[in-house]
Amino acid sequence: MIAFRGISKAFGERRILDDVSFEAERGEILFVIGASGVGKSVLIKQVVGFIRPDRGRILVDGEDVTDFEERDFARIRKRCAMVFQHATLFDAMTCVENVALPLAKHRRLDQRQALSEARALLARVHVEAFAERYPGELGDGLRKRVAIARALSLEPEVILFDEPTTGLDPVNARRVDRLIAELSEKARVTSLVVSHDLTSIFTIAHRIVMLYKGKVRLIGSPEDFRQSTDAVVRQFVRGEAQGPFET
Ligand SMILES: Nc1ncnc2c1ncn2[C@@H]1O[C@H](COP(=O)(O)OP(=O)(O)OP(=O)(O)O)[C@@H](O)[C@H]1O
Ligand SMILES: [Mg+2]
Repeated sequence: MIAFRGISKAFGERRILDDVSFEAERGEILFVIGASGVGKSVLIKQVVGFIRPDRGRILVDGEDVTDFEERDFARIRKRCAMVFQHATLFDAMTCVENVALPLAKHRRLDQRQALSEARALLARVHVEAFAERYPGELGDGLRKRVAIARALSLEPEVILFDEPTTGLDPVNARRVDRLIAELSEKARVTSLVVSHDLTSIFTIAHRIVMLYKGKVRLIGSPEDFRQSTDAVVRQFVRGEAQGPFET
């Protein structure tokens, strides 16, 4: 469904990603983990063309998108929704209007239908009570859930989640986990999830990719990660201060 083949990316002299390869299958929940600054956000933004790789290929459902023009990515972005690390909403519109916007634009619903569907999407992420509020009035956690509701509006096949539970309280973090799991089970949505949330990782991940110093350190199931004898992997997934892990 989504394949990264030999991806390398540098910014100026700084090499960030170095020959990174892995694939996510249809319906899979694949977590991408690693230290702050390792290149997790840079990696997933390449799927939808917000950042271009220096080397390597990116495939979406077998289609090589690496050399796509900007206008070709519009099609990919309808199928692959991105929930950014820092929720990007229009501050001059209410939450429900933010979610209704892609519905009116891409599904050609009239405003009343779009608002009604948008409300249903907000209910799905448990923020219907904030439908008429402006994003600027809300905390990070609520904004993030509104952004998730908006990402769901086009019924994407793939969702790229950049830290979906960061800034959420534990109850709402688990609700987001449950939503991601349901999307995978019921609609066979493929999720690439960048996260540091160990509870999410060990609750809903099908597989995990750990990036370390530009490379894939380990790819495997949560069980593979629990049982790994690699000291760097062990330290990271246990969140220990002492050990060989370097940032
Ligand atoms: N557009 C850009 N131009 C220059 N440097 C960039 C750009 N985007 C990211 N970087 C740099 O690339 C590195 C990796 O960034 P990235 O945002 O992918 O990290 P991350 O793994 O997502 O970290 P975090 O967990 O803190 O979000 C960082 O050093 C960052 O400063
Ligand atoms: Mg990031």
